[in-house]
Amino acid sequence: MATNRTFTMIKPDAVENNYIGGILKMINEAGFRIVAMKYTQLSEEAAGTFYEVHKERPFYGELVSYMSSGPIVAAILEKENAVADFRTLIGATDPTKADEGTIRKTYAKSIAANAVHGSDSDENAQVEGDFYFSKLERF
Ligand code: CMP
Repeated sequence: MATNRTFTMIKPDAVENNYIGGILKMINEAGFRIVAMKYTQLSEEAAGTFYEVHKERPFYGELVSYMSSGPIVAAILEKENAVADFRTLIGATDPTKADEGTIRKTYAKSIAANAVHGSDSDENAQVEGDFYFSKLERF
């Protein structure tokens, strides 16, 4: 089922560098509405579960320890064509390959510390949003 919602995290590097405000501004200016939002920190176990799809990848251990290393901002975002449009807004996973004007080009340091996560499909947007938010936390 196609939806108009996606899920994002502002990652520990961006939080630490005080980029939360700048990133949210770019998200709002691109036309996304915030449905749900939470400032929190993942345990290693929770990060491992969230990124289980990457379990066999060589960077999985680094990814899990990095994503649990500090606070993050999790959010569900709404807009027509949300998943694809948000991936365009954030740019390539590797910030050196991201287009000018994208969030990762503007704020990311490296492929691991790449400032933001964005769901890659409607199905994963639903799963990832459900990981963080109850029905009562969505507006
Ligand atoms: P994200 O969109 O959160 O989804 C999976 C994450 O794995 C990705 O962003 C990157 O931060 C991370 N990742 C992907 N490739 C590598 C890599 N080669 N080395 C380290 N981390 C990676």
